[in-house]
Amino acid sequence: MEIIENFSLKKLNTFGLSVDGKYFAHVASMDDLLETKDFIAENNCRFMVLGGGSNVLFLNDYDGLIISNGLKGVEILKEDEEHVVVKAMGGENWDGFVSWCVQNNFAGLENLSLIPGSIGASPIQNIGAYGVEMKDYFVGLEAFHWETGKIQTWAYNDCRFGYRNSIFKNELKGKTVILSVTFRLDKNPIFKTGYGAIREEVDKMGITKLSIGAIRDAVISIRERKLPSPKEIGNAGSFFKNPVIPEMQFLSLKKTYPKIVSYKLPDGNHKLAAGWLIDRAGWKGKRTGDAGVHKKQALVLVNHGNATGKEIIQLATEIEKSVKEMFGVELEKEVNVII
Ligand code: FAD
Ligand code: EPU
Repeated sequence: MEIIENFSLKKLNTFGLSVDGKYFAHVASMDDLLETKDFIAENNCRFMVLGGGSNVLFLNDYDGLIISNGLKGVEILKEDEEHVVVKAMGGENWDGFVSWCVQNNFAGLENLSLIPGSIGASPIQNIGAYGVEMKDYFVGLEAFHWETGKIQTWAYNDCRFGYRNSIFKNELKGKTVILSVTFRLDKNPIFKTGYGAIREEVDKMGITKLSIGAIRDAVISIRERKLPSPKEIGNAGSFFKNPVIPEMQFLSLKKTYPKIVSYKLPDGNHKLAAGWLIDRAGWKGKRTGDAGVHKKQALVLVNHGNATGKEIIQLATEIEKSVKEMFGVELEKEVNVII
């Protein structure tokens, strides 16, 4: 395996930021990964794993080793009449895997169609969309632990999944490489059309018979309309998480802003649509140089061309301040900021 010096990451991060990695390695096997471990020890440098680069914001050139995850493969481990257990390697493309599941009529992940990135990153923030989270079909994962130098298994309960959260974003941040993820999928699909007007979209598309393929098509169609494609404009999806606030605070906000968009959670708290807050605070479509807020979705920050990570973070900080001043609500970043 070759380790390349001063490697451009511009095409490897969906913000399209012009940054370099001091060292870069494309890892396609366990042997490659062990080689990077030796390299890190010999050069005493920092390191990070990069999947599809769709949830990172680089503030500077990266002065360590970028480990690009190229571990490929999909394998059926077990199946019966009702379920199939499938293991996908971390370097597989998420949406390619979802497409494969739909083609084979393995149901569950179709609402998560078109989310960019890799299988290996999917548990890190427990990716979610249209009423489904990755955790709903997750069985376990295998990860290489840098400190022990061993491959370990994490079962569902070990991962502490939450809304855009898991142990891998907290205590284990940067401590493992997720090598593979195992999912349990349904052979008899339960269609999840309740969220985000999927049913409406299916009808609009003239589809008369519901199937997981139809749901995938509807989700793709909604997403293509609502979210900017990184191929056209640099972005990392939602820049912030949707904030969760207690009932009392929510009721008081609702008095001042009767149109505030929110969802009541089972624990009594309320999740607010951060896009609505940012929009209402007047940021939608705003631009400072090449760093901007998307014109159709205020939760998505964009790079109009030559923005730097620092310019984007500066804009994000101004948005956080303004939302705090106007609504008294703290925004938390979803994107992983790489200093
Ligand atoms: P990267 O950006 O490469 O990495 C993200 C973090 O995970 C980094 O800290 C990295 O070091 C770490 N990491 C990556 N791979 C591994 C590994 N194998 N082991 C250990 N650490 C690792 N997210 C949603 O949840 N729902 C959405 O609907 C959604 N829509 C999006 C739409 C667009 C247009 C874009 C650009 C992004 C969207 N996202 C969404 C965010 C993003 O797609 C997900 O967070 C995705 O899982 C990131 O995968 P990645 O491989 O690109 O991760
Ligand atoms: N809204 C506005 N103005 C805006 C943007 C949104 O008023 O500029 C309102 C919308 O009208 C809607 C509400 O806010 O009433 C929610 O908007 P949307 O349905 O677009 O969803 P979101 O909350 O902005 C979340 C996820 C997305 C996921 C979609 C669909 C988070 C942080 N974001 O977005 O995930 O795809 O729901 O489930 O939870 C991501 O994580 O990167 C991501 C794209």
